[in-house]
Amino acid sequence: MKILILATKNEAVERTVRLLHTAIRKKPNLVLGLATGGTMLDVYQSFAKSALSAGLETDKLTTFNLDEYIGLPANHPQSYRTYMNDNLFANLNIPLSQTYIPRGDALDPEEEAHRYEALLSAAGGLDFQLLGLGENGHIGFNEPSSSLASRTRVKTLTRSTRDANRRYFGCDEGVPKLAITMGIRSIMDAKSIVLLATGSEKAQAVFDMIEGPVSASCPASALQFHQNTTIILDQSSAAELRNTEYYQHVHKDGV
Ligand code: F6R
Repeated sequence: MKILILATKNEAVERTVRLLHTAIRKKPNLVLGLATGGTMLDVYQSFAKSALSAGLETDKLTTFNLDEYIGLPANHPQSYRTYMNDNLFANLNIPLSQTYIPRGDALDPEEEAHRYEALLSAAGGLDFQLLGLGENGHIGFNEPSSSLASRTRVKTLTRSTRDANRRYFGCDEGVPKLAITMGIRSIMDAKSIVLLATGSEKAQAVFDMIEGPVSASCPASALQFHQNTTIILDQSSAAELRNTEYYQHVHKDGV
């Protein structure tokens, strides 16, 4: 794992955006795995803006989102399809037909999950996966106790994830209980992975992911087995780490 600790959230976001640029410049037809959530909002805003100003070629990308809530049609204001269209795709030169997100309103969600995994594999797998981190250590919606060998499937969301997402739905009853999510194995098959976590509320999960044992109790700890993962942190999310001096020695200020 490459651990980059930046001074501020903004610098951590910009570092993430730079890695995206580098990967796309190297391979314009990159198969790119994308996350949603609050952390990614700044990333997508900065990425779309800088891609335009830098003349980055994005029309050959294929994107696969990690997850979608079950029960929400694509045009629901809180669906991840709406989130992605509004926050990234509308501001980027990419045909929507090259952007994949599980269908939350599929009649048979299990079948939709299989279809999605098959699409991913037909695209040749992920070149680059962008991840956020749940306060409980989840990646995608792989909640604690998820099989570390899991593929795309239906998952029940935990109380803590539903609480964290209640702000978007206004009331508790509105927050979906189930989601389709890429599995941990599907994510681990990506050739490279970049995870961004900022803020003190992520500090415990960051510790568990990097310095804790590999365990389904912290799904992100599976990344310890990945050969090309970069973790980008700010000072607050890195606060619980014990080997900070070493990480700073190897990559001073996240360089
Ligand atoms: C959603 C996803 C989740 C989020 C995580 C962090 O697509 O991948 O794993 O990355 O829940 O969410 P925020 O950034 O809102 O704290």
